[in-house]
Amino acid sequence: MSSTPLDRDTAAGLDAADPLGHLRARFALPGELIYLDGNSLGPLPVGVADRMRDTIEREWGQDLIKSWNSAGWIDLPLRTGARIARLVGAAEDEVVVTDSTSVNLFKLLVAAARLRPGRRVVVTESTTFPTDGYIAAAVAEILGLELRWCDRADPVAAVGDDTAVLALNHVDYRGGHLLDLEAVTRRAHERGALVLWDLCHSAGVVPVDLDESGADLAVGCGYKYLNGGPGAPAFCFVAKRLHDELRQPLTGWMGHAEPFAMARDYTPAAGTTRLQAGTPPVLSLAALDAALDAVEGVEVADLRRKSLRLTGTFLDLVRAYTDLEVLTPADDRRRGSQVSLRHPRAYGVVQALIARGVVGDFREPDVARFGFAPAYLRYIDVWDAVQQLVAVLQGEEYADPAYSSRSPVT
Ligand SMILES: Cc1ncc(COP(=O)(O)O)c(C=O)c1O
Repeated sequence: MSSTPLDRDTAAGLDAADPLGHLRARFALPGELIYLDGNSLGPLPVGVADRMRDTIEREWGQDLIKSWNSAGWIDLPLRTGARIARLVGAAEDEVVVTDSTSVNLFKLLVAAARLRPGRRVVVTESTTFPTDGYIAAAVAEILGLELRWCDRADPVAAVGDDTAVLALNHVDYRGGHLLDLEAVTRRAHERGALVLWDLCHSAGVVPVDLDESGADLAVGCGYKYLNGGPGAPAFCFVAKRLHDELRQPLTGWMGHAEPFAMARDYTPAAGTTRLQAGTPPVLSLAALDAALDAVEGVEVADLRRKSLRLTGTFLDLVRAYTDLEVLTPADDRRRGSQVSLRHPRAYGVVQALIARGVVGDFREPDVARFGFAPAYLRYIDVWDAVQQLVAVLQGEEYADPAYSSRSPVT
């Protein structure tokens, strides 16, 4: 164990001087809870409930079907996408909000394979988030392609002149490892492959310069650092240079050039509109749109600065006060916005912490995961969370039988 890196008074001083400290008031956080799970489900931003009430009671309740036009419901996928574009370094017309991350992965993987006819391989990480791997396998099966697994340590090594698309997570969900999006994209392009980035764990918290990096395609979810609520719709990014060529497989009417022409044959809409398939989920879109107000006017670079300091402080304190193995890179250039710790009874550790008011989550097989969302977390939260962790470990609270039965969501 090393010497104490910071005490609670110092943490309180950092909070008092925090230029982002005022953002916490934009969230309806419950009481004394220390919420370190915004990388799984972001908390409720304050404006969302009023917006939902208005959308439900006035737009839906009073104005009924005319709200598709008068309230702009039909444009919500593009309008919300344009707001997310700023957070991921894209032009406003390169991002659309539609469907889930899983469905968007399917659409964009098929589209990528079609953009590289003759190339028969889809490459993805062997440790990818399950849905990414399952969808890649399904796409390979449906299109008669080979699925090749790569190692996150050097993903481009698996990319050859047979590869249509390389699908990667910008930040790894389990350990929080961050890839160099620009360098990986450039190296994959040198081999003629497209790259599809999953930004679920970076959008809204880690700077992402899709356009400057020459990125092709990306997906990301609305319910983590974008705080759009449980099951919020996801987003798709398509670089403008691919807009005309891109052919996605779910050719529903909302991706048609003229949905209300009711034509027999499918003609894709221009731009990212063609990535839509069915009728947009207006209530969920309204919640996500309102949630984005919580980071309105805030630069991702400023969020990143604080995020690194929060995770760095947590890492220092964990090293000072515990012997836990840390999975997350200490190098700022390789760390997302979470810290993952290994413990043989990690599930019990997480449950005991929740009982003490510190919410993280568990990931198989032995990982306790803590997300640090800089928009609402304070340095004293980091300090207090580590003190609670120490108490759980010293009291072996993780061994309490009450913490061993697994709920469906861990
Ligand atoms: C990296 C990553 N991709 C995809 C998903 C989930 O996708 P969906 O919203 O379709 O369930 C998650 C959810 O945690 C994730 O972490």
